[in-house]
Amino acid sequence: MSAHTSTNVIEARNLTVEFSGLRVFEHINFDVPRGKISVILGGSGCGKSTLLRTLTGLVEPKEGSVRYDGEEFLGSVGEERRHILRKFGILFQSGGLFASMTLAENVALPLLENTRLSEERISEIVAMKLSSVGLGKFQGYIPAEISGGMKKRAGIARAMALDPEILFFDEPSAGLDPISSASLDKLIRELNSALGTTMIVVTHELQSIDDIADYVIMLDKGARGIIAHGTLAEVKAITHDERVYNFFHRVASA
Ligand SMILES: Nc1ncnc2c1ncn2[C@@H]1O[C@H](COP(=O)(O)OP(=O)(O)OP(=O)(O)O)[C@@H](O)[C@H]1O
Ligand SMILES: [Mg+2]
Repeated sequence: MSAHTSTNVIEARNLTVEFSGLRVFEHINFDVPRGKISVILGGSGCGKSTLLRTLTGLVEPKEGSVRYDGEEFLGSVGEERRHILRKFGILFQSGGLFASMTLAENVALPLLENTRLSEERISEIVAMKLSSVGLGKFQGYIPAEISGGMKKRAGIARAMALDPEILFFDEPSAGLDPISSASLDKLIRELNSALGTTMIVVTHELQSIDDIADYVIMLDKGARGIIAHGTLAEVKAITHDERVYNFFHRVASA
């Protein structure tokens, strides 16, 4: 079987990240299955965003390997690195839309920067992406004119502009009311089913995890690493590790 058809799109090995000598996590290993939704979870400060940033090349690990479709990403340069970067779409924790630009202009940006498509073709793609997240009628709005949930949707449309194979979401429902949050989760699920895009979502919302997770990677600050990894059902069935059990049963830790 060639690397590209293997079930895992990402293989992370022996990953260690530290800031000023302080280790966030050390020697962690995990795989990300293709076409599924994997959720990275754990308490505040355990390194969820750092892990996402490491996987997308924004944080340089102290050691380790991250392979995409069998190709090493860490330390890659030039065309090789660009080839891997083109596989990603990212929705950052802050959303990151340009405030002075319309939603259509925001979504068009990656297309203008990374392709030589005609203006007409770009407009078509922008319209298609915005309508796929339910914002077809809001192309001409600027971010200040729409709700928080709509901004997240627009951020997803922009992350999908280049038809990525892998979408990364850092706390997509942070700051949203429960209804907007549930509707965003539903959208993430629908996009995953419709497009088969591999998704890696950071969250600590139990409801979101239940609604979207196929696989779970649970980090723990004290352990400086992964304390549970598997399908949602497998991880939820863990009773021998009280950190995992307490998280899923809402038991407050001391
Ligand atoms: N650029 C950085 N420089 C120094 N320390 C950092 C940096 N980024 C993260 N850290 C530290 O690394 C640890 C993990 O942070 P990270 O933001 O990854 O946690 P998190 O799990 O995403 O938390 P939250 O749930 O609050 O978003 C924290 O102690 C944080 O202070
Ligand atoms: Mg974070």
